[in-house]
This record gives sequence, C-alpha cells and structure tokens, in this order.
Amino acid sequence: MTTSGVNAVEVEDLHSRFGSHVIHEDINLSVKRGEVLGLVGSSGSGKTVLLRQMLGLEMPSQGSVRIFGQSVHKSDRSELQQIRNRCGVLFQKGALFSALSVFDNIALPMRELHTLNETMVRDLVMLKLEMVEIGSQHANKMPAELSGGMIKRIALARAMALNPELLFLDEPTSGLDPVLSEGFVNLIQALRRELTLTIVMATHDLDTLAALSDRVAVLADQRLLALGNLQEVMSTKHPFITKFFLGDRGKKALGSNGYIL
Ligand SMILES: Nc1ncnc2c1ncn2[C@@H]1O[C@H](COP(=O)(O)OP(=O)(O)OP(=O)(O)O)[C@@H](O)[C@H]1O
Ligand SMILES: [Mg+2]
Repeated sequence: MTTSGVNAVEVEDLHSRFGSHVIHEDINLSVKRGEVLGLVGSSGSGKTVLLRQMLGLEMPSQGSVRIFGQSVHKSDRSELQQIRNRCGVLFQKGALFSALSVFDNIALPMRELHTLNETMVRDLVMLKLEMVEIGSQHANKMPAELSGGMIKRIALARAMALNPELLFLDEPTSGLDPVLSEGFVNLIQALRRELTLTIVMATHDLDTLAALSDRVAVLADQRLLALGNLQEVMSTKHPFITKFFLGDRGKKALGSNGYIL
C-alpha cells in the first residue's frame, strides 16, 4: 500500500506565520487511517491553526497538507469540496450557527450536498440526534436555549452528518463538567466501534486525551516536540511536557487512566 493509503492526513515541512509572528516551523506528521491523534500544546501554540490548515481553511506559509493522499492547498474548489465531504469538524468557537435551529444546524451539511430530498434530510437528522442521545423534542430549539453539553453533542451530530471518515475535534470537552466530558468520550468510543473513524483532536483535557488517543502530538516552541503514544510522549524532557503531563492535574488524570508516571 502507498503511504497515502495508510495515512488519512500527511503534513510535510509545514511553516506558518501571521506577519512576523511565527506559529509553526517545519512540522511533519501523519495520521494513520483509523487512529485517534491527540494534539496538545499550550494556548496559542497553533493547534486550531493546524486543524484549519488540514481542512484547507487556512494556508500555510510553506509546506503541504495531504488528506486521503490529495494535496489540500493545491486542490481546486470542487476537489476541496470532495475532500471536505469526507470530513467532519467540531469547531472550538461557534460550534453551532446561532441563527439556525438544532434541526437546521444538523441538516445544513446534508442540504449543501443537493442530492437529498427533505424527507431524507429529516430522517437523517433524526438518526443523528438519536446517535448523540438528544431527544427529538429538542430539534426545533435554538442554540441559545441549550446547555453547553447539549451544544457539544449537537455539534458532534452535525460533524457526523455526512458519515465522515475523518473527524476533526477542536476542544470537544472544553466547558463541560467531568460527567459530561466522560459522556462525550463514551460517545466517541461508541462511534469508533461502529464506524472506521480517523480523528484528529486538539484538547487541553488530559482525561479525554488519555481515554481516546492512540498517539499524541505535542506542539511547543513552534515545533512538533513529540509524537508517539502517551507513555513515549511523557518521557520527552521538556518544560511544557513536565508541566502539562506531570503536574498535579496530569498525575491525577493519567494515574486514574492506568498510566505509569
Ligand atoms: N487569522 C489570524 N491572524 C493572526 N493571528 C492568528 C490568526 N489565527 C490565529 N492566530 C494566532 O496564531 C496563534 C495560534 O493560534 P491557535 O488558535 O491555533 O492556538 P491554539 O493552540 O489553538 O490555542 P488554544 O489552546 O487557546 O485554543 C495565536 O497566537 C493566534 O493569535
Ligand atoms: Mg485552539
């Protein structure tokens, strides 16, 4: 098999800057099909920018991103749309469109396909709501009427609207209490059992990271500081890693997930 057959995402020699502000320098990483890659780094280290570059929403100043073997930044509009139709995304900010109901938020990616009639859209939206355990009585509510946990679940339903092969999750559990975060993790695990999903997930939440990630990528000092399973990453000597994984919060989360510290 070619590498692009094995990998869902390939990032090569990626550099990013905004004006004179350098965000990424020489990032190289790949995400294998079917794996969950956790992306960590301090606030402002460029996790969201990297996810946006993977989706072709942001252009790197140098280097390339390939999704399913196809260069994101060299694709024309229709090629990019085809790639995006195979991807789902839960954004960090503005997870839902505030002017659209729950139903219309989830229906949006389906309607944009222009291949499904309204009856099909309705049935699919209801299936997605069921998948994230949101009762149909909430379908006509507006985002402002929902709790934070419900918004994340509905945003996940929207991200899953087109049965994506590749899912980008940007801080999926931020703002959720521990019980809701655990519920979210269980939901992702259940989806993984049922579907072949590749997930790239940026998170500050160590419990979620430890529970879901097959491998972890650490961004620090503009570079990819470490890439490997959690145990390998934790053994990398760097102040960010020590603080993030081996501080009190990290010890608690990783200890309870069975990691040897
Ligand atoms: N469109 C933009 N224009 C200028 N600077 C930007 C832009 N988008 C992001 N940045 C800068 O790039 C850096 C990385 O931002 P990014 O949102 O990727 O960080 P992050 O790692 O996701 O942080 P957090 O953990 O807080 O979500 C920040 O310094 C941010 O201010
Ligand atoms: Mg971010």
